[in-house]
Amino acid sequence: MSASPPGWSAAHPGALAVPAVRALSPYVPGKPLAELERELGIRDSVKLASNENPHGPSPAVLAAMHAALGEVWLYPDGSCHALKGALAQQLAVPASMLTIGNGSNDLLVLLAEAFLTPDTSAVYSQYGFAVYPLVIGQTGARAIEVAALPGDAPMALGHDLVALRAAIRPDTRLVFIANPNNPTGTWIGPDELEAFVQSVPATALVVLDAAYQEYAHALGVPDTLDWAHRHANLVQVRTFSKAYGLAGVRVGYAISHPEVADVLNRLRPPFNVNALAQAGALAALADASHMQRCVAATMRELTRVTQGLRQLGLAVGPSATNFLLVQFGAGAAAIYQALLERGVIVRPLGNYGLPGHLRISIGLPAHNDRLLAALAELLPPRAAHAVATPDRRGR
Ligand SMILES: Cc1ncc(COP(=O)(O)O)c(C=O)c1O
Repeated sequence: MSASPPGWSAAHPGALAVPAVRALSPYVPGKPLAELERELGIRDSVKLASNENPHGPSPAVLAAMHAALGEVWLYPDGSCHALKGALAQQLAVPASMLTIGNGSNDLLVLLAEAFLTPDTSAVYSQYGFAVYPLVIGQTGARAIEVAALPGDAPMALGHDLVALRAAIRPDTRLVFIANPNNPTGTWIGPDELEAFVQSVPATALVVLDAAYQEYAHALGVPDTLDWAHRHANLVQVRTFSKAYGLAGVRVGYAISHPEVADVLNRLRPPFNVNALAQAGALAALADASHMQRCVAATMRELTRVTQGLRQLGLAVGPSATNFLLVQFGAGAAAIYQALLERGVIVRPLGNYGLPGHLRISIGLPAHNDRLLAALAELLPPRAAHAVATPDRRGR
């Protein structure tokens, strides 16, 4: 007689999964363009939902990936030797401090797998990036969500470092900080942040997720790269998905103490970064001026879109990223739907506990014009603040 696990039946093989994984709610990504166009039978829709770089990679990067296509029958370089070398040189850190991931998401998963068990905990902010509770949850560790700053604070809904510090317990192994944060767009100044990192006990690692740091840097928020040499318990996580325009091939990296990098590199699947991603990221590093031009263009549009939205009477939070958090109030879901029907995909934030807000990525000028024109049509002229229901005029 074979003993079946409790709660198992042949009709429900999913019950065999570990309880922490069964309890997970899946990550909800932005709606893909092809899906919307299939559903509504429309064309020419625009996606302002996943904070991608709409300019895409440079011709040099595309050429490098095209060249790599000829060798896709070979496994990629499992050590990412060339990419690591180029990153080490550009970031002025030894290659032993680097771990390359299949997107920075991969590194968040690896960190959780390497440092969390059911008898530990991890701390993150309310309205912090949605992946943090997921990666914590899959390990069975206790996820400690800390209340964000209030809605009337200068960095409304951003991280409250005092509360985050107070939440760290002796069993806490990871503290996730997104700077700037997604979906709020808020950021923390370097002095305050470094004092926080310094205050965290050696029993916990601070995971500083800087997915949008190229945008923040362009707005004058200092780079924290050199902290890698000052704080042994700091892990900085970065990505090629946003400013470098390589979201589709998946490549990110972590800069950490060599011992932490060693742990992550042992755990990492042998070929976690594909050959096209390695070739594209390497070429992108060599073509930084393209990335800087993209960031500058996006920042100009960020200012223009912010003004346009405010002229429509909407409350828009400060942002050091390539997206905006916009308050629509009770009408947010209806506005989201009405924008979809006009071929504009933005991001609803119900899963973040922000059902009255939408997150809007900055697109190309023509995309942003589409968004502003659609909202002008949907909103009552000069709405005071929040919107009750969308006006369906002209449809
Ligand atoms: C704050 C933050 N961290 C990490 C990621 C993951 O990015 P990727 O896995 O594409 O590098 C994202 C993506 O939206 C993000 O917003």
